[in-house]
Amino acid sequence: MVTGSADTARLFFAVWPAPEVQRALADIARGARSECGGRAVPAGNIHLTLVFLGDLPRERLAALETLGPTVRGGRFNLTVDRLEYWRHNRILWAGTSACPEALQALVSSLQDAVAAAEFRFDRRPYVPHVTLLRNARRAPAVDRCPAVAWPVNGFALVESAPRERGRAYRVLRSWPLDI
Ligand code: 2AM
Repeated sequence: MVTGSADTARLFFAVWPAPEVQRALADIARGARSECGGRAVPAGNIHLTLVFLGDLPRERLAALETLGPTVRGGRFNLTVDRLEYWRHNRILWAGTSACPEALQALVSSLQDAVAAAEFRFDRRPYVPHVTLLRNARRAPAVDRCPAVAWPVNGFALVESAPRERGRAYRVLRSWPLDI
């Protein structure tokens, strides 16, 4: 299956931050780069994946889009304040020391909707992670970063397509969360 072809799309549900949140996280990425090496994710690509669906035939997009409005969840504030390093894929990512219950509930609700519609996805326990550096050489000495306040008011269905350097993300549809 060819990613980003006319027939298939790599898709995921995500929380897409406002530009100022992306800029604050991109600043942290640039700061970490001098210590950890690697490639900083461009500000406009910074996001939080909720459910990763993988490569799917485009004809299934319409079915995915009907799921959005069936997913209920409350708004919440995410505080990004931790830095972690995954050695197996050389990713440096930002996370939270206090995962909001509403975030876990949103992920569960999305997973249930996606499963009921017979889409496959990874059922591993959800670890909220925001990738900041790819191909990083080492973990940072300090596992904290300046806290970034991220108000989460909705979620989106996003397509990831390959580019000559890295990937381009496109928000296909987004839905608000209830107050
Ligand atoms: P990453 O940043 O750690 O690579 C689009 O690819 C988004 O889906 C990214 O946030 C990516 O995480 C995530 N993603 C890619 N492959 C995944 C997988 N197999 N399981 C869960 N998330 C994945």
